[in-house]
Amino acid sequence: MSEGKIARLEDAQVSGKRVLVRVDFNVPMADGKVSDDTRLQSALPTIEWLKDKGARIILLAHFGRPKGKVDASQSLKPVMAPLSERLGAPVRFAGDCIGKQAEKAVGELKDGDVLLLENTRFHAGEEANDAEFAAQLAALGEIYVNDAFSAAHRAHASTEGVARLLPAYAGLALQRELDHVTAALENPERPLLAIVGGAKVSTKIDLLMNLVTKVNRLFVGGAMANTFLAAKGADVGKSLYEPDLLGTAREIIAAAEKSGCQLLLPEDVVVARELKAKAARRVAGLDEIARDEMILDCGPATIDALADSIESAKTLVWNGPLGAFEMTPFDTGTVEAARFAAQRVRERKLVAVAGGGDTVSALNHARVAGDFTFVSTAGGAFLEWLEGKPLPGIEVLRQMPQTDMDAAS
Ligand code: 3PG
Ligand code: MG
Repeated sequence: MSEGKIARLEDAQVSGKRVLVRVDFNVPMADGKVSDDTRLQSALPTIEWLKDKGARIILLAHFGRPKGKVDASQSLKPVMAPLSERLGAPVRFAGDCIGKQAEKAVGELKDGDVLLLENTRFHAGEEANDAEFAAQLAALGEIYVNDAFSAAHRAHASTEGVARLLPAYAGLALQRELDHVTAALENPERPLLAIVGGAKVSTKIDLLMNLVTKVNRLFVGGAMANTFLAAKGADVGKSLYEPDLLGTAREIIAAAEKSGCQLLLPEDVVVARELKAKAARRVAGLDEIARDEMILDCGPATIDALADSIESAKTLVWNGPLGAFEMTPFDTGTVEAARFAAQRVRERKLVAVAGGGDTVSALNHARVAGDFTFVSTAGGAFLEWLEGKPLPGIEVLRQMPQTDMDAAS
């Protein structure tokens, strides 16, 4: 990855200062109420740390994709009450993130106060990373802290542009996330195993290409494995797969061989004629799938082999479910593998890091998310990190050596 140490919040002099903190409050909502508070919880340590030090805290965040227009249905206001409750302190709100309203609200802050600004994406300048808009945000604060790993793949004004204009630091949640993902992929204890599942190879080509150069073993599961099985000549019946991606699958297989990465695929599968709970199903070998059958999960021999790989691994990186896990009993492969990995973590034999969209719901479904060493709340950012891409919101926090010296003098 890139050079330069990340500036850490603990090194910032924040007392009495106006500190702009980029958080990710793009939280699930139902009926105008926050329905999952994971991201609120993860923002608390940084806010509490700053409060303790007597900083004036100004929270910047986006919600939804309003595309540069004010849209009351995508306001951040519903976050104010649950945040205040979890913080055990009042949270103020300003109806705009720049301009008079924001300036007035910031001007009224006393040391230790917390202010949440309205959705940054109500301004087109946010996603455009417009210099003028970034300058208006920067004018509100004296120090910038990014605590939103899950938005760090966006080069937007509140994640990237503003960080160029103020002394910029990584918040506690962002540091924790980075420490774990870096430990898992950049200097892991080996053998390092990656488990990648999900529906489509097409959305994970870069990710697979990067992983084969880094990991000792890669297990591919879920519907995306069907494309690999077909590329290797299996008749997958009416399984979901991507006929256009057979060549890509072969390239990934070749890249794995070249890097000495052992690529593992299902050796047996669970098939059914329809994707329905309790549909009649059977275990089939790869050469036994009928025309009208579809693969919906890995079979027991595959789960055994995967458990052996987990058992011999010291580090595991997991993204994506291994079957149609939303529908019992096609969740068996995902649940059993997740539970076995969790058990190895509890025995202190394995470091297991997971992240990305469906992965968190799959691990919650298996009731083991809490047992994994670390579960990232990031979707797209976790995937881009697995792809080996630099995340703009992180890169901008890297200090050049001379900045280190400035800080020390
Ligand atoms: C997320 O929810 O994954 C992040 O907040 C990023 O949101 P976005 O995909 O709308 O940029
Ligand atoms: Mg997203």
